[in-house]
Amino acid sequence: MASIVVGGHFGDEGKGKIVSYLALNDKPAVIARAGVGPNAGHTVYKSGKKYGLRMIPCGFVYEDARLLIGAGVLVDPNLLLKELELTGTQDRFALDRRCGIIEAAHKKLDSSDFHLTKSVATTGTGCGPANADRAMRKLKHASEVPELKKYLTDVPLEINNAVDEGKDVLVEASQGFGLSLFYGAYPNVTSKDTSASMAAVDVGLGPTKISEVIVVYKAYMSRVGAGSQKLPTLITKQNLGKYPELKATYERALCDGTTGKDVNEVLARYLGEAGTVTGRLRQICGFDYELAKYSAMVNGATQVAVTCLDKVFPECSGVRDYSGLPKNVRDYIAGIEKEVGVNVTFISTGPDADDIIDLR
Ligand code: GTP
Ligand code: IMP
Ligand code: MG
Repeated sequence: MASIVVGGHFGDEGKGKIVSYLALNDKPAVIARAGVGPNAGHTVYKSGKKYGLRMIPCGFVYEDARLLIGAGVLVDPNLLLKELELTGTQDRFALDRRCGIIEAAHKKLDSSDFHLTKSVATTGTGCGPANADRAMRKLKHASEVPELKKYLTDVPLEINNAVDEGKDVLVEASQGFGLSLFYGAYPNVTSKDTSASMAAVDVGLGPTKISEVIVVYKAYMSRVGAGSQKLPTLITKQNLGKYPELKATYERALCDGTTGKDVNEVLARYLGEAGTVTGRLRQICGFDYELAKYSAMVNGATQVAVTCLDKVFPECSGVRDYSGLPKNVRDYIAGIEKEVGVNVTFISTGPDADDIIDLR
């Protein structure tokens, strides 16, 4: 059976955390990374150590899984080799021979071009320029990089064989729905679609092979890069009162002595919302139910995961049993379930893989 974990908001929803739990709990035979490329940073903890992974699937925490990167994903060879060493996963890793390769010129353009740096505020990791070259049919493939030769495979063949043999396959998407080139907040988006269908294409799985689509939302929303001023739920001094969970968080932040140029910056600092790849402070928004519902629809969500509940409801920190959740948190989750129209199956109450309530 194949499952896809995908972001329902603007990325950084905590997909890495959900994948790490699913990897350790469900023990999938194959875990494959989909998505744009090293512009994503997925955070995962293993034996108390924090990893901000940009290439290797977060599911590496489960030591018996075969780890793959699909052909749709752009690869930065140096970064990949470093992460292979860091995670010690060389003996169970492979990438598709058709993965696109990011070169120095792509990164240079991504961090110097006026439109990309100022209007889109890209991560500077070379993904947009590399995907542009791919569309122009002049991008190098992984098969042309000597250092990657020993890791090459045919990901669609491996992954479809695994599904046909009745094994579990977990596909880890990156970014989030609002960053989709097709459906997101254009032009402040990434260089590819970011929905579950694209993740399936990235790894070579046909739509009929996908059994579960788990859409991940954070209990509030964050947005890094340009375009946040257009978001209807962007937190300001004026609308803070509409989001009681964030208002209470703001009051706790002030008691704690957190400072910032405005309400949003105080919240971002207190919530620890800084980009995994760029270190940029993220903008904080209230949960956008309309966006979440639309995103669940386009993603074909069969399940929903809500993360970071402990950040806005500290009383549920580390709770691993539904009966241990206070009523206000249960009501908040029920509200998401009702508005989005899809069952919430995972409630994440902390950054560790085990800080989760699994309602499946
Ligand atoms: P992208 O592919 O870049 O969108 O990444 P991502 O969805 O994997 O999220 P990322 O790791 O960038 O950011 C999520 C942050 O929230 C990380 O620092 C996680 O450790 C943390 N996190 C995830 N779930 C929880 C949770 O339930 N509680 C707390 N406190 N932190 C969490
Ligand atoms: P690019 O993908 O580097 O071209 O960046 C385009 C936009 O997407 C910028 O606003 C980035 O901040 C945003 N973005 C890209 N990848 C991620 C991610 O993994 N998490 C959050 N934002 C992202
Ligand atoms: Mg991230």
